[in-house]
Amino acid sequence: MNFKNLFIKNNKLAINGGEPVFKKNLKPYKTIGFNEKKSISRLMDSGKLSGFVGAWCDDFYGGKMVRELEERWKDTFKCQFAVSLNSNTSGLIAALGAIGLSPGDEVIVPPMTMSATVMTPLIYGGIPVFVDIDKDYFCLDVEKVKKEINDKTKAIIAVNLFGHPAHLKELRRIADEHNIFLIEDAAQCPLATEYGQYAGTIGHIGIYSLNYHKHIHTGEGGICCTNNEELALRMQAIRNHGENIVAPLKIDNPINFVGFNFRMTELSAAIGLEQLKKITRYVDNREKIANTLTSNLSGIDLLKTPKVRNDCRHVYYVWAPKFNYESCKIPRHLIAKALKAEGLPIDEGYVQPLYLLPAFTKRIAIGRDGWPFTLTDRKYEKGLCPIAEELYENSLIEFCICSYKLDSNDLNKSIDVFLKVFENISQIRESFKD
Ligand SMILES: Cc1ncc(COP(=O)(O)O)c(C=O)c1O
Repeated sequence: MNFKNLFIKNNKLAINGGEPVFKKNLKPYKTIGFNEKKSISRLMDSGKLSGFVGAWCDDFYGGKMVRELEERWKDTFKCQFAVSLNSNTSGLIAALGAIGLSPGDEVIVPPMTMSATVMTPLIYGGIPVFVDIDKDYFCLDVEKVKKEINDKTKAIIAVNLFGHPAHLKELRRIADEHNIFLIEDAAQCPLATEYGQYAGTIGHIGIYSLNYHKHIHTGEGGICCTNNEELALRMQAIRNHGENIVAPLKIDNPINFVGFNFRMTELSAAIGLEQLKKITRYVDNREKIANTLTSNLSGIDLLKTPKVRNDCRHVYYVWAPKFNYESCKIPRHLIAKALKAEGLPIDEGYVQPLYLLPAFTKRIAIGRDGWPFTLTDRKYEKGLCPIAEELYENSLIEFCICSYKLDSNDLNKSIDVFLKVFENISQIRESFKD
């Protein structure tokens, strides 16, 4: 290992009473500024905080700000239709409804994602089928996806986890070949690309999140992108009491036109418009931070820094290295404890593989009788996705760089924390033996 900071060697770790690298907590990341405030203030003066009407009329599609945000989103992400909603979760429901998901249909999902990805199919009686992820990029393993496709499969939901694109073009090809849908959960990946095309626009539908933790945000919010006009209309219907437009629009196949109120307010859209103007700068900055961490820490033998597939852009919602547990046999929680004691806010394992949620193991989701699990023999138990289980139990570490301001001084110190802990790992090994 090539140490830039030699003082780190033989330094007493903070868990053993040494001085921590960070003397103060990192400052939270803040994207909201003057222009957002100005825009909101103008709207408040107008008094019109939503422009939607839940019946067939011009306002069915929402107010001025909502439509403007959708236009700008289409321009930015280069897709034909953008449908704003009040969250990515609502967007997942709208997308699954729009493709006509029906009770008993299977939906292929990864086990490691935010729970909304795997729970939303249940709303329509869809059966989540968990397929393992690959060990390097943490996205759906294409070969394993192929093996699970059968007559019941209606869709694949690929998650571009941590900001890295799944094998999207390949999955789209497979979906088209089988006449099923590829839905992208693009919550964490704005401006990520695969072969030059934006992740979120390669599947039949892609859904971004604008919740508070994301690269840009509107407090809560989501946007569905598609290049298919009918899917766009169906998502607009599910967003806004779609049952009321079936007769006036003479919809002859009104499957899943049971509408919700998933509408975005004018306030959120106004903030979104300002945020969108800054997205390139924010994402570039995030990528620069991640690349600096990777290039400075890739020499640590016990740490595998994040990989980026050829022809992909990773936008680093999370910078997630893997700890090589097999080589040193120190439990990850002790390493994490040591990193945290130095003042670095890291997390471990992301989420427990989601098929271990009680909803699946106890087969209770919608209603008292266990629907829709009454429609399937699929089993949800430990061992289903060994790679996701290993990452959760032993090796994955996350540094949620999006949550912190991270100026160059903080970034240098973050690097120092990793170097200090891994160079002095014998101190942890000693205390572990005790
Ligand atoms: C991968 C993924 N999917 C879905 C969601 C849900 O997004 P929202 O909070 O906008 O509903 C999130 C939010 O963190 C996410 O990270």
